[in-house]
Amino acid sequence: MPHTSGAQTASVPARANQVVPATVTPLTARVARPRHYLMCRPSFFEVTYAINPWMDPSVPVDLDLAMRQWEGLRDAYRALGHTVSFIEPVTGLPDMVFAANGALIVDGKVLAASFLAAERQPEGPAYTRWLAEADMFSEFGTTSTVNEGEGDFLDLDTVILAGTGFRTSRAAHGEAQEFFGKPVVSLQLIDPRFYHLDTAVAILGEHDIAYYPGAFSAGSNAVLRRMFPEAITVDEAEAATFSMNSVSDGRNVVIPVESVRFAAALRDRGYDPIPVELSEFRKSGGGPKCCTLELRW
Ligand code: ARG
Repeated sequence: MPHTSGAQTASVPARANQVVPATVTPLTARVARPRHYLMCRPSFFEVTYAINPWMDPSVPVDLDLAMRQWEGLRDAYRALGHTVSFIEPVTGLPDMVFAANGALIVDGKVLAASFLAAERQPEGPAYTRWLAEADMFSEFGTTSTVNEGEGDFLDLDTVILAGTGFRTSRAAHGEAQEFFGKPVVSLQLIDPRFYHLDTAVAILGEHDIAYYPGAFSAGSNAVLRRMFPEAITVDEAEAATFSMNSVSDGRNVVIPVESVRFAAALRDRGYDPIPVELSEFRKSGGGPKCCTLELRW
């Protein structure tokens, strides 16, 4: 509290060592930590195949709009003080814009992605090459079965949450645990619209998440309740706005502009929602988080 001569203190001069009451800080004061993200310009973005229920090749994509929306996401990260690096897009790889799937990076160690769909398989080596050439990472690993990077692996302080059911195999969860030496908790996805874990869970803080219970099996819901009894949960309509596909720096949470109820829940918990417009990418089953790979080094 500033030492000004306000009405209440004007007649009572402050003593030299007087204890000044601290400004009241909400219990939920959140601290942002600067991040380093990798993004891929959507130069070749289109929907020409369907590997999730959101994709319909007969629905046209507005590439100019997609480009502006992607630039808006990039600019939002920069405005928050984050570093953004870029991987060169490759022709014929329309989903390469979804950088989250390119790898999983924890503690400077890179677990290379291995995609389920033949159409996306070449993305794995493209991302691995960029990450190797970046000369930032100590160790590289692979899995013997399907793993779609940060799409299905979400890093918290002491555990990694991992999704399976549509893309990443349960066996890959075990391989990830062995590689990182960090506990990996397997969660069973059951709704094809929420085919990647990052469409059903949002990481907000070191040990704080939001999730859509309808995306998970009964047992996995019980696990989530046990681990995160205080978590924000969203209903189906809010999940369908891709609200869970959000990117938090510990305080600022970049969310789809349509996720208004989630935004209100975040504000209640002391987070600052940062809405972005990414409607063109929803046509491919993607939101802000899908377009973002965090480089943890
Ligand atoms: N069309 C892409 C696919 O189905 C979207 C990937 C979204 N990425 C994500 N991290 N959820 O593979």
